[in-house]
Amino acid sequence: MQEVRVGIVGLGNVGLGTLTILAENAEQIALKLGFPLRVTVVCSRTVASKALPDSLGEVYKTTDWRDVVSHPDVDIVAELVGGTTVAAEIIEGAIAHRKSVVTANKELMALCGAEIWARAIRAGINLAMEASVAGGIPIHAVLREGISGDRIVGLYGILNGTTNFILTEMEERGGSFDAVLAEAQRLGYAEADPSADVDGWDARSKLAILAALAFGEKITPSDIYTEGIRRIAAIDFQYAHRLGHTIRLVASAQQTAEGLILSVRPALIPQTAILASVRGAYNAIWVKGRYGADTFYYGRGAGPLPTGVAVVSDLMRVAREIRSGSPERVSPFAHERLGEYRPIPVTRQRRAWYLRFRVVDRPGIIAALAGILAEKRISLEAVLQLPCDNKADLPFVITAEPTTEAAIREAVKEMSRLDFLLEPPLALPIEPGL
Ligand SMILES: NC(=O)c1ccc[n+]([C@@H]2O[C@H](COP(=O)([O-])OP(=O)(O)OC[C@H]3O[C@@H](n4cnc5c(N)ncnc54)[C@H](OP(=O)(O)O)[C@@H]3O)[C@@H](O)[C@H]2O)c1
Repeated sequence: MQEVRVGIVGLGNVGLGTLTILAENAEQIALKLGFPLRVTVVCSRTVASKALPDSLGEVYKTTDWRDVVSHPDVDIVAELVGGTTVAAEIIEGAIAHRKSVVTANKELMALCGAEIWARAIRAGINLAMEASVAGGIPIHAVLREGISGDRIVGLYGILNGTTNFILTEMEERGGSFDAVLAEAQRLGYAEADPSADVDGWDARSKLAILAALAFGEKITPSDIYTEGIRRIAAIDFQYAHRLGHTIRLVASAQQTAEGLILSVRPALIPQTAILASVRGAYNAIWVKGRYGADTFYYGRGAGPLPTGVAVVSDLMRVAREIRSGSPERVSPFAHERLGEYRPIPVTRQRRAWYLRFRVVDRPGIIAALAGILAEKRISLEAVLQLPCDNKADLPFVITAEPTTEAAIREAVKEMSRLDFLLEPPLALPIEPGL
């Protein structure tokens, strides 16, 4: 059967990983498909300096992505550039030339995936974006095919390998956030500018895509409550362990009677929870279905080859659809309601809370804090204090019984004015049932 031809734009980590697999695994891929996939065009700004696998054979190289999207010998364009500017033009250009598209771009798909998908459907082409969330975990295939017969009620994930690496290093070895971040940068796990990862923005984009797939809603990423991990200290793990918990950056989407509640934030989760066993740069997603109950997916969240597998598998799926003449018909975004969903503020959620303080020690501190909690009708559950000699910077923890986030925020705001505090209290939800 006739080959399907691929043009690749972007020859960085993911682009080169994809090319390696397409070259080394070409025979298996052709056997599985019943026809070969052939790379005909590759593009990057510095394409001449790229070492391409020899077995790819003759490939047209260009520095202009327009050559790829308009090339007559390209059936599928793989957009592996990233960002929301050039990448958007590449995908638009490909759709305009009626080429199918595979992308690894979480940022762009989180922002305007619904619109891109609608255009792809109108143009009668295929689109796939498996690599955009959790690199090597085939979670799109799971949500769109594997468990699509279920009705999803909740989804929880560790979606950012960099932050998970930092948190688990702090947990296992101690060390400040800054020291562990510097180590992560040295090892290549964190970017020179780490804010997309450590401030939660990367996980937010991924959650927006996953929640769209799981719930059929068009999610606006800026509606997702997002908090990063910069304020977590090694001491928080010691206290969390005392409480039988650990700390992870949890991306969560929960269906409630009023609508979806979405957040990305550090939270205490029980040490026995399956998500607590996710360590280092790994990712995991736990999906709760109304009929099928719990399923759990685990794997590498990034890296040239794991992400390359996701891209190659998408290329294979799209190639099959091209061969069978089956274009996209239903968008994975907004299949339930075509309008925008109504976000439910996270402040309505009831949780137990972990409040960590750093104070200059003096009499009356607990009474002052307990007084504010009582004023806000929040029940104090326990006070924990690990031995510490430094009375000028004394950490301790108060846990509060379940209350709304709105009430805790008010209490924290009021507590922040107290002059014995060295910094505002750190408030983390204690996630039940994870
Ligand atoms: N890295 C991962 O593990 C991972 C995991 C999951 C998803 N992703 C996603 O995959 C995408 C690619 O990530 P990456 O890590 O491979 O990025 P990267 O290493 O920075 O590679 C980007 C590539 O795009 C090329 N490029 C940039 N602007 C271009 C333009 N105007 N015209 C042509 N080529 C251009 C660059 O060319 P030059 O090399 O010539 O400068 C480079 O080859 C992103 O959307 C990212 O979010 C990455």
